[in-house]
Amino acid sequence: MKNEQFNKPDLKDARKRSKIESIVSEFHYNNLISNIGENKKYIIQTHGCQANEADTEKIKGLLESQGFTPALDETEADLIIINTCAIRANAENKVFGEIGRFKRLKMKKPDLVIAIGGCMPQEEVVVEKLLKTYRQVDIIFGTHNLHKLLDYLAIVMIEKRRVVEVLSFEGDLVENVPTVRDNRYKAWVNIMYGCDEFCTYCIVPYTRGKERSRKPEHILEEIQSLVNDGYQEITLLGQNVNSYGLDFTSRAYRFSDLLKDVSALNIPRIRFTTSHPKDFSLALIEALAKGKNLMPFIHLPVQSGSNRILKMMNRKYTKESYIELINTIRNLIPGVSITTDIIVGFPSETEAEFQETMDLVRTCQFEGAYTFVFSKRTGTPAALMEDLTPTEEKKDRLYRLNDLINEGFLRGNERFLDTNVKVLVEGPSKSNKDFLCGYTEHNKLVNFRGNPENIGTIIDLHITEAKTWSLKGEVLHE
Ligand code: SAH
Ligand code: SF4
Ligand code: F3S
Repeated sequence: MKNEQFNKPDLKDARKRSKIESIVSEFHYNNLISNIGENKKYIIQTHGCQANEADTEKIKGLLESQGFTPALDETEADLIIINTCAIRANAENKVFGEIGRFKRLKMKKPDLVIAIGGCMPQEEVVVEKLLKTYRQVDIIFGTHNLHKLLDYLAIVMIEKRRVVEVLSFEGDLVENVPTVRDNRYKAWVNIMYGCDEFCTYCIVPYTRGKERSRKPEHILEEIQSLVNDGYQEITLLGQNVNSYGLDFTSRAYRFSDLLKDVSALNIPRIRFTTSHPKDFSLALIEALAKGKNLMPFIHLPVQSGSNRILKMMNRKYTKESYIELINTIRNLIPGVSITTDIIVGFPSETEAEFQETMDLVRTCQFEGAYTFVFSKRTGTPAALMEDLTPTEEKKDRLYRLNDLINEGFLRGNERFLDTNVKVLVEGPSKSNKDFLCGYTEHNKLVNFRGNPENIGTIIDLHITEAKTWSLKGEVLHE
């Protein structure tokens, strides 16, 4: 295609931060585009974290507003979108593999539109690679301009021009983008976008831009409408929810205030992710302890148990202050379940420092963790640090850590054996079609025999068996 619309990202620009409070604008349709999706089918692949899952629901909302309908498989699709993740090299390699695979589909069906969005296009190295090697891609868009996807589709489908539009600056907070939610009982609610932490290994502050908090009235309005639609559970989303509100210049309203206000709404279950240990205030712990509908489950990434490595990571807390925080949380919220994220093999991490991480895991009694081998991200400070540990050694650390983490998973499940729990019933169990499954308040997966009519409701179960990855239960009363 000739006459490309062209705007490439720049990681250096993405690093810049302004102190200005974000402007809010309303999503509006471009009247020149109508029903471009009529008789057209789409498929969308989502990689990465909940932020991307929430974005995908908006992409679906935009597409379906113009008549696109979901395709059953790729061969049937007129439009393929990949919502990408840039967090680790293997996440990116998977996406490049997929785009390569779609080339054959495009050869058979030249009108097929392929769009790549999400975090990967926010990196200039990725855009260059896409432009050089993956000519089958028609649209490259980023995280800051998702709401303009319909305009880009019109350019490709009507004007037959290729679009590369990735912005390094955040722009306005756009409210009321149409949304098609994947689940009728559980919903994601974005409370803020971006991240200002700049942990030295992490690409997210570059791909998602500066921290921008949505106004409380918009968040509460969205949740109220979910309540009206019968939703049972919401998860408040942000890269670091504890920083919520720090960017407001016109009011003093923080995450603990938001939790109190959300908790007053008639929603049975409230969760949030992710918290950074550095801003986890006493006010927040106290708010959590008070709200009956605030679930006793906290994901609190620690990353490492070595103070030298934590410093190199720019995490702004120590092993000791993290342990103290865990103790305070456990004292004020008895029975709370705590999980974490850990990176092994950060540049220059020694075996002794890795053992400090193992010790920290034992001390903190985590009931689960996402564990990773450090992955070098071009443009981040850690990518320039000397890294001499052999890959085999790093993998060995990961395996040893995972064995320890799995013991914690099992212990966390075993403490519910012979107790009664409340479960939000989600649907058929993935492991056995005769069973239903759902999650407890502490976020434990339970499989049980039950009535499918209960799907979408919260019921009482008695736990009869505890395994590493799940519990088994029996219905108490229907
Ligand atoms: N905002 C969240 C996490 C986002 S990324 C938080 O700070 O908690 C999810 C996890 O991916 C991180 O907690 C970290 O453990 C891991 N991660 C991020 N960058 C990584 C990298 N370059 N290599 C390996 N793991 C990484
Ligand atoms: Fe990445 Fe750190 Fe921000 Fe989390 S807090 S998204 S790990 S920079
Ligand atoms: Fe991946 Fe972007 Fe989320 S890099 S982890 S999809 S914020």
